[in-house]
Amino acid sequence: MSATTLALDGGIPVLGQPTAYPWPKLRPDWCEAVNQQLASGRLSIYDRSGVVAEFEDAWSEGHSLPYSLVTNSGTAALHSAFYGIGLGPGDEVLCPTYTFFATAASLFQLGALPVLVDCRPDGAFDTNHAAALVTERTKAIVVTHMWGLPCEMDDVVSFASRHGLDLIEDCSHAHGATYAGRRVGTFGAAGAWSLQTQKLIAAGEGGVLATDRRDVYDRAQLLGHFNKRAMKEMDPEGPLYPYAVTGHGLKYRAHPLGIAFALPQVAELTDWIDAKQRYARRLAELFHRIDGVTAVTLSRDGRVSAHYALLFEVDPKVLPGGRDWLVAACNAEGLEDMDVPKATSPLHTLHLFQAPTSPVTSYDRPCVRAAYPVAEHLAAHTFKISVPCAPRAFEDEDDRYVEAVGKVTDKIAGYLAERRAQQASARLAPVGRGVE
Ligand SMILES: Cc1ncc(COP(=O)(O)O)c(C=O)c1O
Repeated sequence: MSATTLALDGGIPVLGQPTAYPWPKLRPDWCEAVNQQLASGRLSIYDRSGVVAEFEDAWSEGHSLPYSLVTNSGTAALHSAFYGIGLGPGDEVLCPTYTFFATAASLFQLGALPVLVDCRPDGAFDTNHAAALVTERTKAIVVTHMWGLPCEMDDVVSFASRHGLDLIEDCSHAHGATYAGRRVGTFGAAGAWSLQTQKLIAAGEGGVLATDRRDVYDRAQLLGHFNKRAMKEMDPEGPLYPYAVTGHGLKYRAHPLGIAFALPQVAELTDWIDAKQRYARRLAELFHRIDGVTAVTLSRDGRVSAHYALLFEVDPKVLPGGRDWLVAACNAEGLEDMDVPKATSPLHTLHLFQAPTSPVTSYDRPCVRAAYPVAEHLAAHTFKISVPCAPRAFEDEDDRYVEAVGKVTDKIAGYLAERRAQQASARLAPVGRGVE
């Protein structure tokens, strides 16, 4: 057995222990913020005060928007945004098929219908495809900045305004990402972010919505922030004020302990985005040593990715066995972080979107109205890997993670080169045969 015998073939894994990017970090000051919140005794915050108000103020300031609303999940933030723009039964919303299903799933609760749209080769929303799907019922468009790479927002904004549609941005992968120098989440009627554990700003569970529209903010509050908050925040002269005490049926308040943990992270977001650019380029260099592997979501052309993950495409014509072999080989070497994003199976392949159902209406029209070859190609040929952001005091740990990735990519590249050399000299079976 040579030093380059892959762990997949019975060799010794190059990483001594299974490695995945550790996130979120448990930095002492973030944990201390949680302790202080506990000590304050405020485990429910009924109105816009305390850490909830501090988080919302920081979020609004960071996005130059007047209104932010913290929720208990990204799904709740999206639901509140859709409710905020007034969607209801019969309305259609253009929605990417290449996204996590929560981007669209709450539309069913409103009786609105997501109409699925294909993506561009880098995963971004494809307005050319969307144009063919506009009907007289289309009221809005939601886009996701997949893996952190902003969509082409000039194009998306002009498409939305050409068709008179409200634009919602799902920024759950894209905290701090910018398009032409402007943060995502600020281009349309509202932005929504998940603050779930894996996300760049991590509360454990949580979400946040931001908007410059007072009407959207008020309606969003009515959905899940009844009584004290809505009564204090809403205009007493406004037509919706009589509903403030009860709201409109849900409770979406966030847990203050999660928000206390996330709040100190917000001030560091810009630094993290810078660090992520360096690490993403380094990870791309490492994987590009393997023929047939190409980074798909690197920042470019004024689109600065938040690199929630870096997506790579594997060409099976160059690397026999393709994506699945490469992921299995790297996993066997101990690189557990590298995986196939199964939760983001294109929405048109999921039952909910093939047979849409709603508690408030019935549908006689489908979500799936086209073919989605680009999303299917990405789903079949890509893998993702986490990109470090080097929070203060964790720079060494983050460097060690990238070193570990380098050990694995070196070994795989070395193995493939060895196989090619053997094949050339002894006319062995083609590279990769036997592992397909
Ligand atoms: C793109 C996208 N949108 C929405 C969500 C929903 O966020 P949450 O899990 O906080 O409800 C997620 C969560 O992973 C996501 O990745």
